Amino acid sequence: MLCQDRPWVVCFSSACLLVIIWSFRLFDVRDAFSILVYDESRKQHEEGVFLHQAMDVEFPAPIDYRPIREVCARAQFRPGLLFTCEEQHGGIGMVRNQILKCVRYAIHGGGAIVVPSMALRNASDITDIETATEVPLDYMFDRQAFITRLSEGCPEMRIYDRVEDFPSYEQRVEEPLALVGDQFEPDHPREGLRHPGQWRRSFDEWLAKQSVKVRPDAPVHVRLEQSFLEYPVRVDGDAFAREFGKVLSFRDDTRELAAKVLFKLKQRFAPSIDPTKAISPDAYYGCHLRLEKDAVDAWQPDEWRFSRMEDQFDEQFRNIERTGLSTIYVASGDQTVVDVFAERLAARLASGSSSEKRNVTVVTKHDLLQGPDRRQLDSLTFDQQALVDFLVLFRSSAFMGVAHSSFPWNIALRRHELSKYSQYGNEGSDLLRDEYSVIMGMEADYPHVDPFVYGLWP
Ligand SMILES: *[C@@H]1O[C@H](CO)[C@@H](O)[C@H](O)[C@H]1NC(C)=O
Ligand SMILES: *[C@@H]1O[C@H](CO)[C@@H](O)[C@H](O)[C@H]1NC(C)=O
Repeated sequence: MLCQDRPWVVCFSSACLLVIIWSFRLFDVRDAFSILVYDESRKQHEEGVFLHQAMDVEFPAPIDYRPIREVCARAQFRPGLLFTCEEQHGGIGMVRNQILKCVRYAIHGGGAIVVPSMALRNASDITDIETATEVPLDYMFDRQAFITRLSEGCPEMRIYDRVEDFPSYEQRVEEPLALVGDQFEPDHPREGLRHPGQWRRSFDEWLAKQSVKVRPDAPVHVRLEQSFLEYPVRVDGDAFAREFGKVLSFRDDTRELAAKVLFKLKQRFAPSIDPTKAISPDAYYGCHLRLEKDAVDAWQPDEWRFSRMEDQFDEQFRNIERTGLSTIYVASGDQTVVDVFAERLAARLASGSSSEKRNVTVVTKHDLLQGPDRRQLDSLTFDQQALVDFLVLFRSSAFMGVAHSSFPWNIALRRHELSKYSQYGNEGSDLLRDEYSVIMGMEADYPHVDPFVYGLWP
């Protein structure tokens, strides 16, 4: 018998121990553990689903190939003609548009294309954008997505990895012919080419003048060089203008980091973020500060009002107050600018006349990403990091930027696709103002405003 010869206390304890051991066997620590594990894996699963959904939303709507196919079907492609688009330079706004423009001309010309490439910005001097170092499309974009989508949209167009892959390339007529997009209409107005529909005819006449004939056995190689915002993107119809830019998708790692930033924003500040929606209301404010060295160099503060920190900040502060949002996602290639911005905003709110003191938090991608994600972000270059900001700003509840940079225009124009307004400057006098975005100031606030509205594919 169990308790024979033992004091009852000992006996009772042993019995208790047995009960405990048995109950552990029955209910098992593993159960408790597996609840924890289950909870953890459920969280991981939820995060995975969120990231997956968020990464898929890069535009207001997924690509619709129809308008692209219609334009390509009219183009009359021909063998023996190859276009290349190299040395495209600038930030993402410009490079992306240059590449799209180059592809658009190649469609007009009815030729094949080599996957475009671009010039690498000098990391030790960010004002130096036109370097001799050429980097592949993958530097900023998803190469495979470009090939797949352009082939889907433009099945007639051949796409090559390298010029040498083009049939009979070694028998080409001569050295590549250089051409810029507005060469046939050098005096076009600010709004762009008057007759883009005649580009093909002018191009063929230009070839003929040089006694060049397009023949499959002796191919012609045309290098399209960089020109500035001269192609009127709406001329091919609104549907094409809306879809064409979607052949370029940002590189995967930047889309994943942006999705992670969005997840952190949701967890910590903005539960209303819906990963499947381009723009979630009442979530966070997207603030683009264009005050990096390259910007202040290019647009000098004595002439360009919004290159002055005070003036640019002031517009943002007033817009933040107008929208009432309390999480401010700030994007700038210069962390000092962000720090000064956060200090001044806090000071302004603390001394504010408004009776109710608002709790406003300024965050950046650097604050939100941790551990391996943060290290991955830090390993990216200036222009690659800007892709993460672009995507997070694109999805903000309210967005504001300046008018002299293509980056905020690209974001605001893409968001404008969701606006109920067809015009740009709707609810006030700013250059662009709709329910989602503001491009600050009026024409009179700038020495000049480049024709981004006409020449940028959203
Ligand atoms: C990049 O800029 C630095 C600093 O101005 C300069 O010394 C260097 O030569 C530049 N590099 C290239 C590849 O142009
Ligand atoms: C502001 O937010 C912080 C962090 O979320 C919180 O600790 C603090 O209590 C808030 N202050 C007010 C006045 O709501």
